[in-house]
Amino acid sequence: MSDQTIQEEHTLQPPVPHPTDEAAVTAAVEAALAAIESASDLAQLKEARLAHTGEKSPLSLANRQIGSLDKSEKAVAGKLVGAARGRVNKALAARTVVLEEEEAARILVEETVDVTAAPRRRRAGARHPLSVLQDRVSDIFVGMGWEIAEGPEVESEWFNFDALNFKPDHPAREMQDTFFIEPADAHLVLRTHTSPVQVRSMLEREVPVYVLCPGRTFRTDELDATHTPVFHQFEGLAVDKNLTMADLRGTLEHFARQMFGEEAKIRLRPAYFPFTEPSAELDLWHPTFKGGARWIEWGGCGMVNPNVLRAAGIDPEVYSGFAFGMGIERTLMFRNDVPDMHDMIEGDIRFSQHFGMEI
Ligand code: DAH
Repeated sequence: MSDQTIQEEHTLQPPVPHPTDEAAVTAAVEAALAAIESASDLAQLKEARLAHTGEKSPLSLANRQIGSLDKSEKAVAGKLVGAARGRVNKALAARTVVLEEEEAARILVEETVDVTAAPRRRRAGARHPLSVLQDRVSDIFVGMGWEIAEGPEVESEWFNFDALNFKPDHPAREMQDTFFIEPADAHLVLRTHTSPVQVRSMLEREVPVYVLCPGRTFRTDELDATHTPVFHQFEGLAVDKNLTMADLRGTLEHFARQMFGEEAKIRLRPAYFPFTEPSAELDLWHPTFKGGARWIEWGGCGMVNPNVLRAAGIDPEVYSGFAFGMGIERTLMFRNDVPDMHDMIEGDIRFSQHFGMEI
């Protein structure tokens, strides 16, 4: 590139001093020193460096012209421009040191970490005791080779009542117990128990069937210390050849010991449920229950009524079954001495921390 083209390209640049013109060279040096001095941070200093020492700066261009000067002028020009560039470089180096120190000091202040400041406290959560208990029950049955089954909370009246052998005039269908879903002719309810999952399981699976069905259930109860309109149950169902009441009893006894310890005992008292025949009320005994060693009513059970097997397409002449159902809230109440159901639904983290992790 010739000097001519450099000149043309940089018509907006400051004039290039002639390398022997002392006044012009000094003016270029002073312009450079002023720019260096006024740079207030390292970024501005970088710009000044580029403008006054870069390839296209006046002093660099003047330096390049020296080569084409007469021999007599070369020495003078070399000394003049060399000294000029030396002054600018020295000023740059000095300013760099100052600005770097300033920047380091600023970062020290701006990025100070107060190691004595109190950290923001994050509260740890806890799984709800009802979920923990439900998982524990499920685990015990999975450990015996059973499967977990689920069904819908909005259930057809047929699964919730008819298929379970409730007669059309059974009082449980009345408004005070059941949440009916409009329109009435859709025949949908919020399931009042987990028993409809029995029928669904028998329809969906091949026999033999061994399922545990935990889930949410609904009844039109007012919330008080021992009732809540939304609660949880778990349902067990076994259908196989030659199952008897002894299998039911043995299963429940094993389950009770897994849940409450080896000292736990169970007993069955005759009762009535439309979906089992014979039916029984299941009581649980434990030496450390609050109020002393005593029997507590835990749930219902029985041999699956042949009408229920037939509704699910299973031949009661070939197969028999047993079933049981318990409330999870009720189980938590006497397992962990929780006297008031409000605690289970109010969502206070202290309740979950106290009972939720430990179970
Ligand atoms: N479904 C009954 C209830 O909610 C409980 C129950 C009783 C379930 C006997 C059963 C059973 O499977 O065999 O009160």
